[in-house]
Amino acid sequence: MTAGLWVTFEGGDGSGKSTQSALLEQWLRDEGRAVVHTREPGGTEVGTLIRNIVLHHRGDIAPRAEALLYAADRAHHVETVVRPALARGDVVIQDRYLDSSVAYQGAGRVLDAGEIRELSLWASAGVLPEVTVLLDLDPDVARGRLDAADKPFDRLESEQAAFHGRVRTSYLALAAAEPERFLVLDALLPPDALADRVRARIAPLLSR
Ligand code: TYD
Repeated sequence: MTAGLWVTFEGGDGSGKSTQSALLEQWLRDEGRAVVHTREPGGTEVGTLIRNIVLHHRGDIAPRAEALLYAADRAHHVETVVRPALARGDVVIQDRYLDSSVAYQGAGRVLDAGEIRELSLWASAGVLPEVTVLLDLDPDVARGRLDAADKPFDRLESEQAAFHGRVRTSYLALAAAEPERFLVLDALLPPDALADRVRARIAPLLSR
């Protein structure tokens, strides 16, 4: 689509996405690349407001309303942050994108996965990242990590084990359907080993 390179990180809560995206950012900066590190939900000012609703609202949000809130965050974020950065030729590293919606709102909340994907693609005017790193982890192990971190759980993290099991299955199905976009990694590997694999996937794309 553009001059830059767009890399997204996906995975369940507690899979280590933020650690890996931060390590990739550091490496790229050391290589002298212009990097925009961003996230969904909450990569913009409007997105921060939406993030507060979807993660911290007390009480229920209807699943379709939740899907639309994530899509609204995405629409504004892609238009105002991602596209301009890619047009400048920057590397965009992004924590979560539309695969999160398909996995969490589609499989998790049990909405139609195809419809959720179409909604997200409409929101973002159809753009997809070049690489999506999926950090795959058993939700029970992830839960142990979140418990150990001793932070209050947000609305999605508070969902039951079955929800997170469906999210994981959905992610793996998405990766199997688009093997050229996805890099699936076993999130039980040590952080350095994961970072090496991510760099190995990204490095050839930088010298184009
Ligand atoms: P995240 O920013 O990874 O949470 P944290 O900073 O607490 O690690 O993600 C926020 C939550 O939002 C996460 O549980 C997944 C969920 N989510 C969706 O349900 N749908 C979406 O489209 C996105 C982007 C996130």
